[in-house]
Amino acid sequence: MTLHRFVLSRRQTLGLLAGAAATPLIAAPNAAATAAAAKPHRLTPAPASAQLVGRDYPATAVWAYNGQVPGPLLRYRQGDHLDATLINGLPQATTLHWHGLRLPNDMDGVPGVTQAAVPPGERFRYRFPLKDAGTFWYHPHANSSEQVGRGLSGVLIVEEVEPPQVDREELWVLDDWRLDEEAQVVPGFRDNLHDAAHAGRIGNTVTLNGFLPATWPVRSGERVRLRLVNVANARTFGLRFEGHAPQIVALDGQPCAPHSPPSDLVTLAAGGRCDLVLDLDQTPGSRFRLVDAHYQRFAYELMEIVYDERPPLRDESLDTPIALPGNPLPIPDLQNAEDLEVVLGGGAMGHMMSARLGGERLGARQLAARGKVWALNGFAHAAHDDPPLFVLTRGRTYRLRLVNETRFEHPMHLHGHHLQLLARDGRAVEPQTWHDTLLVAPGETVDTLFVAETPGRWMFHCHVLEHQQAGMMATVVID
Ligand code: C2O
Ligand code: CU
Repeated sequence: MTLHRFVLSRRQTLGLLAGAAATPLIAAPNAAATAAAAKPHRLTPAPASAQLVGRDYPATAVWAYNGQVPGPLLRYRQGDHLDATLINGLPQATTLHWHGLRLPNDMDGVPGVTQAAVPPGERFRYRFPLKDAGTFWYHPHANSSEQVGRGLSGVLIVEEVEPPQVDREELWVLDDWRLDEEAQVVPGFRDNLHDAAHAGRIGNTVTLNGFLPATWPVRSGERVRLRLVNVANARTFGLRFEGHAPQIVALDGQPCAPHSPPSDLVTLAAGGRCDLVLDLDQTPGSRFRLVDAHYQRFAYELMEIVYDERPPLRDESLDTPIALPGNPLPIPDLQNAEDLEVVLGGGAMGHMMSARLGGERLGARQLAARGKVWALNGFAHAAHDDPPLFVLTRGRTYRLRLVNETRFEHPMHLHGHHLQLLARDGRAVEPQTWHDTLLVAPGETVDTLFVAETPGRWMFHCHVLEHQQAGMMATVVID
């Protein structure tokens, strides 16, 4: 965990210089972008370079979609068809996974499960209807720790037919990199058992939309919709907007009743998203800190909220509604729900004595020798296509309990479906929220509900990509 410290020292040592340009933020939607969305996209992952930490350091050698970090923003309207062709420019096989989307199983991008991995030089076309509006993202699902960790990810926004009224919208893609003193990505994605057995590959450099953030320029009186996406391999963010009262309007793309973040921290687990509506109701010329305090001992200032001198845009905050229109999710049938339980086990300081791996029962040391340190219900998973954890009936409602017996938090991700959060450690959670990536704290038990909506074989794994690689993954079959 000592590496968190570098987030601060890195800011001082790498490139956060007075001359550095203000963080270019991806601006509001515009008609042109929406019209362009109807055209098919091409996404070409390939080696590229990116000026992640400022001009005083060499560009970082990355892997990027179409040469961009983050990858191109895909923007559609709810009900449109996504149409994107992957053209593999990497030296290894890859796929595209559409994180958080309710889609047909064969479009889910999981190698060996929903499609064959796409070899270098070859292509694969993804096409499916966009049922839900919301903030989603795409990334490879092959050798994920390295492919995502070297920069492969991008955002997919599906606009509501009738979005709430805001003055502007911004997208913040948060990433976390482990860089050396020359600003190059530190290798060791597959063979770092320490990362795998602890909190994953936590880096030392946090970027926002591919740059080191410094300031966020705002105008007094404006109402902004912020779409936050955490594409980091492992890091959880806990953002505190000092002096402000952000309202959460959606989590993981799914709308919820607008509410203040618990303990004033907007928590974003690896893979998670959050839509906020923020009234910038402080005075012109004022400044506030935006702090990431998820790992309390390593809290640092992510950037500064800087009000310009213009007079307030309006005298009183807007009082128009901020709630997002709902998505057509299947409604769980609580009365007839069937119970499922998944125990998360293993990791450093855990008590996993043994687990099954590929049909054998192995002791902790033998498992570690094979790079496996985590298990779900006593199974360490080696490959995407291992036998399923559960076989479920299509259309049925399941009450899924997640029991975290480890000393680490795990953002558990179910493909193609959303989990309704019922309770944490037996205490009901209000308001009701839906998650595709649900953070489970060390020692915590979480109860969720979901409808087995779409047939196929779906991944269920920890989105700390090094945990996934080290056994914390499985599939769930819906018949
Ligand atoms: Cu965002 Cu299985 O992944
Ligand atoms: Cu995990």
